[in-house]
Amino acid sequence: MTRKTALITGASRGLGRALARELARDGWNLIIDARGAAALDAAADDLTALGGAVTAIAGDVADGAHRSALAAAAGDGLDLLVNNASTLGTTPMPRLADQPVRDLADAFATNVLGPLALVQAFLPTLRERRGAVLNITSDAAVEGYETWGGYGSTKAALEQLSNVLAAEEPGIAVWWADPGEMRTDMLRAAGEDADAAPPPEEAAAALHRLITDRRPSGRYQVSDLATAPAESGPSSQNDTAGARAQGGPEAPEAVAGRGGR
Ligand SMILES: NC(=O)c1ccc[n+]([C@@H]2O[C@H](COP(=O)([O-])OP(=O)(O)OC[C@H]3O[C@@H](n4cnc5c(N)ncnc54)[C@H](OP(=O)(O)O)[C@@H]3O)[C@@H](O)[C@H]2O)c1
Repeated sequence: MTRKTALITGASRGLGRALARELARDGWNLIIDARGAAALDAAADDLTALGGAVTAIAGDVADGAHRSALAAAAGDGLDLLVNNASTLGTTPMPRLADQPVRDLADAFATNVLGPLALVQAFLPTLRERRGAVLNITSDAAVEGYETWGGYGSTKAALEQLSNVLAAEEPGIAVWWADPGEMRTDMLRAAGEDADAAPPPEEAAAALHRLITDRRPSGRYQVSDLATAPAESGPSSQNDTAGARAQGGPEAPEAVAGRGGR
């Protein structure tokens, strides 16, 4: 059987690493990145031990030369692009009145423009292979949490890019998913009680189901993914055409969300 290939950005720790472990156990070829080379190499060793064929490339998703290296590594094609790497931007997180605009521009470069550039780079192979894009967002994209306006606005932009991409590319699956709060460095850096949050492995298992069930294009929350495909669908979608194109079920109306960032 031909092994499928996935690129997961930000896979040296947290959700990206946990999802990479899920796919490695399924025998996917993996391309992973993160800026810190030592942690990335450690993650690659771990994934290789699980049976995955792993290419690890250290770099910043906001850097065009790094993105070119990722594209070159997937020379034989790509079946799944997971835009997971992300920054909170300014920390401690400021109110919008105090948000340094330069920092916010940098956050958009990492959380929105890098992911879009990767989508553009891989669309030809994703179309050819009827592949999928999974963009990791946040409920901060849609909720009005004080001090989360900078980060939240980047995630809102990523969500709307995903929404339009799903309409424009019915031949591939486009998912944008809110993982909910997770016990990771990012939540700790945000000043939240990360120890009270579930481990990223729980969200990764839910996202693994999203991928293997090949749900219709749309927005998902990990809490929705605990149920069978026939019982749940995206919490928002424009994807009647997308669902038809994938042979997936017509999705039901919006479902209630859960807390998280
Ligand atoms: N944690 C939560 O509660 C929560 C809630 C909602 C949504 N999310 C979203 O879930 C996703 C994963 O978050 P997480 O909590 O797992 O974060 P995390 O533990 O901080 O891990 C982030 C990963 O991304 C890498 N990374 C960060 N910036 C990068 C860049 N510019 N280029 C390449 N790699 C980069 C990090 O490695 P380096 O630092 O070495 O680059 C690391 O591997 C993010 O999209 C986040 O916004 C998280």
